[in-house]
Amino acid sequence: MLKLVVCVSGGGTNLQAILDSIDNGAITNTEVAAVISNNANAYALTRAREHGITGICISPKQYESRESFNRAFLKQIDNFEPDLIVLAGFLVVIPEMMIQKYRNRIINIHPSLIPSFCGTGYYGLKVHEGALERGVKVTGATVHFVDEGTDTGPIILQQPVMVEAEDTPEILQRRVMEQAEWKILPQAIDMIANGRVEVINGKAVIADNGKS
Ligand code: GAR
Repeated sequence: MLKLVVCVSGGGTNLQAILDSIDNGAITNTEVAAVISNNANAYALTRAREHGITGICISPKQYESRESFNRAFLKQIDNFEPDLIVLAGFLVVIPEMMIQKYRNRIINIHPSLIPSFCGTGYYGLKVHEGALERGVKVTGATVHFVDEGTDTGPIILQQPVMVEAEDTPEILQRRVMEQAEWKILPQAIDMIANGRVEVINGKAVIADNGKS
């Protein structure tokens, strides 16, 4: 059984997609041990608690230095002994010691086709504002392993989404969530839970195992 800790900062629609997929069998062999938020008011925490899952808030604001937050955050994560840490709209930079300890066991969902519109400064709505400003006709979402860079780790899954003429950042964000994020994040977790993802020479390789 793959034990997850899901880290969130906001509404938690991706968390909801994970919980629904576990409930309806689209994700197998997986349980969510805890949801951790840096924001006490995140609706994602309510979603977790309504699902009977431990919801914890830990924020850099509660600590006098980044270093002490990093240590406390890692300790919280370690307490749950997760097999996989899922960043589902988590807006805190992951401490390097955590990346080293959980190498290829942390995944992130990003709302663009990496390497477009990613890296420092590109998160949430800003990603879609950037895509509309540039006038791209196709965008999408990416699930990747987390390494020391920002959005630079091995790519597991990507799903393209068409941009439409009348799009606002909010409309595009919603379409990317519906058509891409809520599908590929659960799909990636299910593939990892069933031993279908391996990192070889810095690239994620998906085994077929007869599943599409
Ligand atoms: C999602 O669109 C996710 O891809 C994005 O934040 C949103 C969270 O929504 N993450 C990033 O931008 C990370 N760089 P949610 O709380 O409803 O899942």
